[in-house]
Amino acid sequence: MIIVTLDGPSAVGKSTIAKLIAQKLNFRYLDTGAIYRIVALLVKEREINIENRAEVSNVCKNLKISMDFDKNGEFKIFVGFRDVTNLLRDEVISKNASIVSEYFEIRKNLLGIQRHFALENDIVAEGRDTGSVVFPYAKYKFYLDADLETRTLRRYKQSGETIDISEIRNQILERDKRDSERKISPLIIPEGAIIIDSSCKTIDEVVKQIIDIVQLEDKKETQ
Ligand code: DC
Repeated sequence: MIIVTLDGPSAVGKSTIAKLIAQKLNFRYLDTGAIYRIVALLVKEREINIENRAEVSNVCKNLKISMDFDKNGEFKIFVGFRDVTNLLRDEVISKNASIVSEYFEIRKNLLGIQRHFALENDIVAEGRDTGSVVFPYAKYKFYLDADLETRTLRRYKQSGETIDISEIRNQILERDKRDSERKISPLIIPEGAIIIDSSCKTIDEVVKQIIDIVQLEDKKETQ
């Protein structure tokens, strides 16, 4: 199975780009951040104290997560048969996903779920540690970056310009700090990853750059 990994900080455009690459290459898309977000959602719904590691850990047991594009090309995320796609993006869930992702037991429990996706499918995996920890032997690894102002502006536009821009900047900074300073599986540039700075590039340019690299290498191998 071919594995493409795409890691990088918050609000850098990873999921938009990973989705497009997956659709163009006809690979499955694995949104690893959504898995941490699902844990945060269940913690909230079950009114578990986020500081209670044992109870938060219990949430990960027997989790059945699936995700794929539906027949209309919409990406859908399920826990069991429940569609949770539209429940994962609010600010509380974003913050709590980042908090639970610092827990060793959680990361360990979620590894199997993530690796399972690559057993029978070519995949594009996107997150913070997909190239370093989840799939260190991936054939193609990319690290996507962009400066803070670019990321802030992108998120601001995404929010429909409804949230104060300095608040968005602070949220991104806070998440960057937590994601890159945590002890276990911090956000790093994975060994062997190609670094792409998207600050001055459009989404389409980045997608094309990645697809060109994957297809060029594949062509070389079949010659
Ligand atoms: O990519 P995202 O914003 O949906 O991720 C939500 C949180 O999950 C993020 O703050 C850090 C965590 N995460 C992680 O620790 N490791 C991953 N591979 C993906 C996400």
